[in-house]
Amino acid sequence: MKHILLITGAGKGIGRAIALEFARAVRHHPDFDPVLILSSRTPADLEEISLECRAEGALTDTVTADISDMTDVRRLTAHIAEHYGRIDCLVNNAGVGRFGALSDLTEEDFDYTMNTNLKGTFFLTQALFALMERQRSGHIFFITSVAATKAFKHSAAYCMSKFGQRGLVETIRLYARKCNVRITDVQPGAVHTPMWGEVSDEMMALMMMPEDIATPVVQAYLQPTRTVIEEIVLRPTSGDIQDE
Ligand SMILES: NC(=O)c1ccc[n+]([C@@H]2O[C@H](COP(=O)([O-])OP(=O)(O)OC[C@H]3O[C@@H](n4cnc5c(N)ncnc54)[C@H](OP(=O)(O)O)[C@@H]3O)[C@@H](O)[C@H]2O)c1
Repeated sequence: MKHILLITGAGKGIGRAIALEFARAVRHHPDFDPVLILSSRTPADLEEISLECRAEGALTDTVTADISDMTDVRRLTAHIAEHYGRIDCLVNNAGVGRFGALSDLTEEDFDYTMNTNLKGTFFLTQALFALMERQRSGHIFFITSVAATKAFKHSAAYCMSKFGQRGLVETIRLYARKCNVRITDVQPGAVHTPMWGEVSDEMMALMMMPEDIATPVVQAYLQPTRTVIEEIVLRPTSGDIQDE
């Protein structure tokens, strides 16, 4: 049976690396026959990553969707229900960050952050968890952050959203354990992705790379379904980039 996987924010950064790593796993795991549903707001990014995944031998499907828009969330989940009738893996990766001093963050920064990281993640998860609950199988990854448990001074709204995501992770576990669904909370420290914009070489030397996150995510999915890796915490070896 095919594995139906949805990766949000698959067009850039960590999500892109996760998509590619799932595609590469096809060669090494003969039983793993995935359809990678790749989603984000930018169609050109999705076309590019889709071609790369197909070159590795994986089937792909692209759906342009903004998870902060409830119409898009409904369209995305309806597409999965109608075309596949099931979902084996949801990677809740799409996320945004607006960074700055507490006094500089605006209402627009706040709403932009919460509408994607909290509202979008919540309603997408709610809809797809319902399918998993019915199937009595599935795996949901949340790419939260070390900022889901630790404060960073220029990240007030971002930290709030990530602490909030953790609230959803812990609550959904209570449901998931009753219906054979696996939940994995992935908490990376600094990763060099477009989210950071331009960074100096010195800064880059203090960061992880997207593939460093993608490899353990795919390994966690490929564990026997009797076992769930509940948390993956990844930091640059030199520790968090200080923000005090
Ligand atoms: N980079 C880090 O240091 C780091 C550390 C810990 C955790 N994280 C988390 O890891 C996740 C990925 O971050 P990243 O660094 O890879 O960021 P990124 O390079 O900015 O990529 C984010 C991806 O999410 C998509 N996206 C953003 N908002 C969306 C929305 N409303 N609807 C649909 N797609 C959306 C973006 O594509 P479009 O703009 O085309 O939609 C893009 O494909 C985020 O949840 C982030 O909080 C990142």
